[in-house]
Amino acid sequence: RLEVKEAMEGKVGISYRHSTTENMDMLYVAVPVGSAKPYKAVIRLSVPLTYIKSIQSHLLLNVLLAVALGLMISFITAYLFVRRLTKPINEMTYISTSIAQGRYDRRISMNYKDELGVLARSFNDMAEKLERTISDLSDKKNKLEAILKSMLSGVIAFDAKSKVMLANPEAYSIFGFKKDILGKHALEIFRNTKLEDVILSHKDEDKEIDIDYPEKRVIRVKTAAIKDEEGSQNLGLVMVIHDITEIKNLEDMRSEFVANVSHELKTPLTSIKGFAETLRNGAINDDSARDKFLDIINIEADRLSRLINDILLLSDIENKPKEILSEKVDVNKVIDQVKDIMSGAALLKNIKLEFHKCEPPAYVMGEHDLVKQLLINLTDNAVKYTPEAGRVDVSVIRKDDNVSIEVRDNGIGISKEHIPRLFERFYRVDKSRSRALGGTGLGLAIVKHIVVSMNGEINVESEPGKGSRFTVKVLEAK
Ligand SMILES: Nc1ncnc2c1ncn2[C@@H]1O[C@H](COP(=O)(O)OP(=O)(O)OP(=O)(O)O)[C@@H](O)[C@H]1O
Ligand SMILES: [Mg+2]
Repeated sequence: RLEVKEAMEGKVGISYRHSTTENMDMLYVAVPVGSAKPYKAVIRLSVPLTYIKSIQSHLLLNVLLAVALGLMISFITAYLFVRRLTKPINEMTYISTSIAQGRYDRRISMNYKDELGVLARSFNDMAEKLERTISDLSDKKNKLEAILKSMLSGVIAFDAKSKVMLANPEAYSIFGFKKDILGKHALEIFRNTKLEDVILSHKDEDKEIDIDYPEKRVIRVKTAAIKDEEGSQNLGLVMVIHDITEIKNLEDMRSEFVANVSHELKTPLTSIKGFAETLRNGAINDDSARDKFLDIINIEADRLSRLINDILLLSDIENKPKEILSEKVDVNKVIDQVKDIMSGAALLKNIKLEFHKCEPPAYVMGEHDLVKQLLINLTDNAVKYTPEAGRVDVSVIRKDDNVSIEVRDNGIGISKEHIPRLFERFYRVDKSRSRALGGTGLGLAIVKHIVVSMNGEINVESEPGKGSRFTVKVLEAK
């Protein structure tokens, strides 16, 4: 046999064969017995192959099991390790998302001892600083906003490209901006070349500018360049706007008033001086001329003194504190006094002047002498601007909580276009006529001032050729 032959030659003989005696596949192994050739004997073993195969598959199973177990153990360890690593990272991700969404008080729990603990600590430090910085910033922003909001001047700040960085509500109201102007270019928001020039020049300026939109106004614009800390780079421009329309109007009114006063004073003065010189140059010897000239001088001097009295009265009412104008005035008593003063003038023109008092007596808050002046001025006008044989009615009417004092005439009347300007100082519908009647044009201005000082209202209805009605409405004093 093959394996025996090989054993006889001193090797380990191995052979697989089908055994006809056993009738199965067998493994044969033969080894020689003894230390050198020739061997006395050979030991031969035979094992069925099926047995070996069963040992083999058993072994495979064990190996597979060991591999599976090994995989499982490493998987679990890896899982635990990864979980240990990702949990804090997930927490950090979650918390940093919350912080990004504005919840600056969020912090990571600190129970990690390794590098993650260090990371968590520095993350928390960072969050802490962020919270403090953001609260400081929003604090500053709130303060700035509150200051800008409460300012009476408009403020607009532009960046270096002349785009709006900031604007307060007053600026919106002065320029009538309806939409948000943040980020808009100066050329987009203003339709005013002077204003645009001031902004685009990026220099410090102080200018008065007329604007037409949303209404005609005069504004004073001050600009200052915004520089960086070294003062070298231009970061933009801040513009402060004051609405000076009212001040301008007052200034204009004042200078107009001074011009008017000077003119009004000059006319009678020139006349007085002229006639005085004529008298001195010889007219004094002509009896009739002397009397005529002296009369004129007298009339002009009267006009001067009336004018000065009226101007003083106006400034007196303007400067009077409100509380002084608050005594209880019996309107019927005023009516009686005005009747005494005005009846003569009415009689001269054959005008039917009638007074209608109110029963029971009505009281208003004001100052007796001023209410009297008011009524004299209105009645004087009614008599003055009503032709001979006309009619003037002065009535006191109580209605609801108010007292109305009404002066009605059937005189020359006033055409519509003059009515809004009647109460201006020195305004006269017909200058020469009023002057001929001795008017200064201050009567209604004084009336208006007195009415305003009493918190009242004055109303005019008039039709040329038919007559006028002036109505003063004041709250009744109880
Ligand atoms: N009842 C009236 N009817 C018609 N015109 C009037 C009447 N009242 C006032 N006016 C017009 O209004 C103008 C202003 O009146 P106002 O009383 O202020 O001045 P004045 O009468 O001319 O002068 P004065 O200062 O002496 O009163 C008058 O010049 C006159 O043209
Ligand atoms: Mg008058």
